Amino acid sequence: MTLDESVIRGLLDAASTARDHAHAPYSGFAVGAAVLTPDGTIHSGCNVENASYGLSVCAERHAVAAAVAAGHRRIDAVLVMTDTAPPAPPCGACRQVLAEFGGDVPVLLANLSGVHSRTSVSQLLPHAFRADALPTDAG
Ligand code: THU
Repeated sequence: MTLDESVIRGLLDAASTARDHAHAPYSGFAVGAAVLTPDGTIHSGCNVENASYGLSVCAERHAVAAAVAAGHRRIDAVLVMTDTAPPAPPCGACRQVLAEFGGDVPVLLANLSGVHSRTSVSQLLPHAFRADALPTDAG
């Protein structure tokens, strides 16, 4: 899918604003994410850590949850923003969650300077475990 400049700008702005709201007092590593849904709307998330460290949730999974809560079941693009050079890619758990809603969709890796590189969910997680691997009466 081609992503025009205005959509990329929208994803950057949404991820940046969400990142500003990250709750990351334990790692000090703030992450923002934004997902584009088929109707052109953008849903964002940030990482939210917890004093019980294992309960912390990544920015990407919060962005996906925001899209699902708004009624979406498909994602057309993802942007992840960190303040690192190069920007960090999604962790393994987030790759699996992204794969639930989008296969060969673009994943833009960005930092505060803008988009640095582009990959895709299928490149990040080849051979993903999907609903079609479940028995036919499940899901
Ligand atoms: N983090 C994300 O938000 N997304 C990722 O894909 C990788 C890691 C967060 C989790 C934790 O709050 C902090 O970054 C350090 O791991």
